[in-house]
Amino acid sequence: MKDRNATQDRKIPVHVAIIMDGNGRWAKRRGMPRTFGHTQGAKVVEQILEDADEIGIQYLTVYAFSTENWSRPETEVKALMNLLRRYMKSSLAKCAKNNVRVRVIGDKSVLAEDLQESIEVLERETAANTGIGFQIAINYGGRDEIVRAVRRAAQQGLLQDPDRIDDDVIGGCLDTAGIPDPDLLIRTCGEQRISNFLLWQLAYSEFYFTDKAWPEFDREELERAIDAFNHRERRYGGLK
Ligand code: IPE
Ligand code: IPE
Ligand code: MG
Repeated sequence: MKDRNATQDRKIPVHVAIIMDGNGRWAKRRGMPRTFGHTQGAKVVEQILEDADEIGIQYLTVYAFSTENWSRPETEVKALMNLLRRYMKSSLAKCAKNNVRVRVIGDKSVLAEDLQESIEVLERETAANTGIGFQIAINYGGRDEIVRAVRRAAQQGLLQDPDRIDDDVIGGCLDTAGIPDPDLLIRTCGEQRISNFLLWQLAYSEFYFTDKAWPEFDREELERAIDAFNHRERRYGGLK
């Protein structure tokens, strides 16, 4: 049963994107290794996906691993990849039960083959689900996505006539094709930057920053972000 009360007196953003930051700092503060923060962070993702669905959010996109995160120590990269591996497998039954449709965005071609396979299975098995759309950004970079989109457009012969190149041509070749742009972007743990996330799609999104680290993010904080969103006036360059 969805919490419909939530939608009665306030606007619920259709699409929420999250830069889940601060796993490492959160763990270090507790005298634990950074990877402990990532494990805890993965649990929070599962909970927030359920909360978002209950609140009535239709699309949730989370930044799990950037094109720049490969520059971290090999042990941390390995731990993150193993966590993603486990997630793809363990979430299959849950997504089926909760009617979640999963799409991984980013360049999957360089990921380990077994990980690519479990991503494919998860995407395929959930493709017909009609509930919340859950996008996970893995080896994702906004610039890389735009470069790959232009390449794809060229391969499909869509760039031959310069006069016909428009927003829809490029947007339709992005990894997020068919998904509305985020209404709200949340970044945790104090940093106020995009870090190469959804450069194209965030053109008119509202931003919400919190000092809470990702492992301590919860439904209450998500509600706070939605409340803040409700106090924003979106003008899209026009006048009110
Ligand atoms: C976010 O937490 C998760 C990933 C980037 C994979 P961080 O690992 O960036 O944690 P901090 O920012 O170093 O604390
Ligand atoms: C952004 O966080 C990437 C993810 C959350 C996956 P980072 O921790 O990598 O970003 P910077 O280095 O602080 O910009
Ligand atoms: Mg970080």
